Amino acid sequence: MKERERIVVTGVLTVLFFAWLGFLFHRSPRFAGSGVGAAFGIAGAVLMLVPLAYMLVKRVPFLNAWITPHVSLQSWQTAHVYAGIFGPLLAIVHTGHKFNSVLGITLTAVMLLVVVSGFIGRYLLSFETQEIKDKLLLLQTARGDLDSAWGALENSPPEVRTLPKAPLLAAGLASLGLGIQSGGPVGEVTAIAESVADLEYAIRTHELFKRWCSVWLKLHLVLSMLLYVLLGLHIWAGIHLGLRWSL
Ligand code: HEM
Repeated sequence: MKERERIVVTGVLTVLFFAWLGFLFHRSPRFAGSGVGAAFGIAGAVLMLVPLAYMLVKRVPFLNAWITPHVSLQSWQTAHVYAGIFGPLLAIVHTGHKFNSVLGITLTAVMLLVVVSGFIGRYLLSFETQEIKDKLLLLQTARGDLDSAWGALENSPPEVRTLPKAPLLAAGLASLGLGIQSGGPVGEVTAIAESVADLEYAIRTHELFKRWCSVWLKLHLVLSMLLYVLLGLHIWAGIHLGLRWSL
C-alpha cells in the first residue's frame, strides 16, 4: 500500500515540478482571475485544508476521540499526503504561471517547499531508518564473523600469523576481494575487519542523513503553518481586490 502511495506521490511530484517550471515558457496573466482559474484555485485550497484537518484530528484530544473511531489516524495521514500533493498541483494550474506579486511568489515557493519537505520526511526518513536497521543486522553478523576469525587466528601456528607489510593496502585490496594473502587467517581477519569498518561508516552516514531528514520534517510543520497564513492573505486579497469572472 505504502509502495503504491510512494509511486503515485513521486509521479505527481514530478508533474508538479514540471508544471511549475512551465513559467519559463508560458504565461497566462488573466487565467487565475477567470472562472475556470478560480475554480482550480478554490479546489486546490480546499484540498490543502485536508492536512490542517489532519493536524487538528491528531492533536486536539476531543476531535481525536470523536473522529478516529470512524476514520483512523492512518487514513487521515494518507489522505493528507494525497490532498497535500494534488492540492498544490491544482494551485499551480490556477496561477497560470503569473508570478508577479511578492505574495504570489512567496506563497508558491512555500507551498512547493512544504511538499518537498513532506516528501523527504515521509519517504527518505523511513528509507534511512530501514537502511540503518538492515545494516545494524549485517554489522552484528560481521562482528560475530570477526570474533571467530580472530579466534582462528589466535589458534593458528605462529608462522601464519604475520601481519601484511602494508596493512592499509592489504585491507583495501581485501575489501575488493583481491587479498594478497589469499585465504589464511590473517587475510580473513583483515577482510572482515574492513567490512566491519565499512558497515560502521555506512551506518554513521545514514544516521547523519536521517537527522537531516528529521530537520526537514520539523520544517514541514513550520512551513505548513506559514503556508496557511499566506493562503489566507492571498484569498483575502483576491476577495478584496475583486474577482474577474470571465470564462
Ligand atoms: C499542501 C501540502 C501539505 C500541507 C499543508 C501539509 C501539512 C502538514 C501538517 C500540518 C503536518 C503536521 C501534523 C502534526 O503532526 O500535527 C504534516 C505532517 C506530515 N506531513 Fe504533511 N502536508 C502537506 C503535504 C505533504 C506531502 C505531500 C507529504 C508526503 C509526500 C507529507 C508528509 C508529511 C509527514 C511525513 C508528516 C509527519 C508525520 C505525520 O504526522 O503524518 N505532507 N503535514
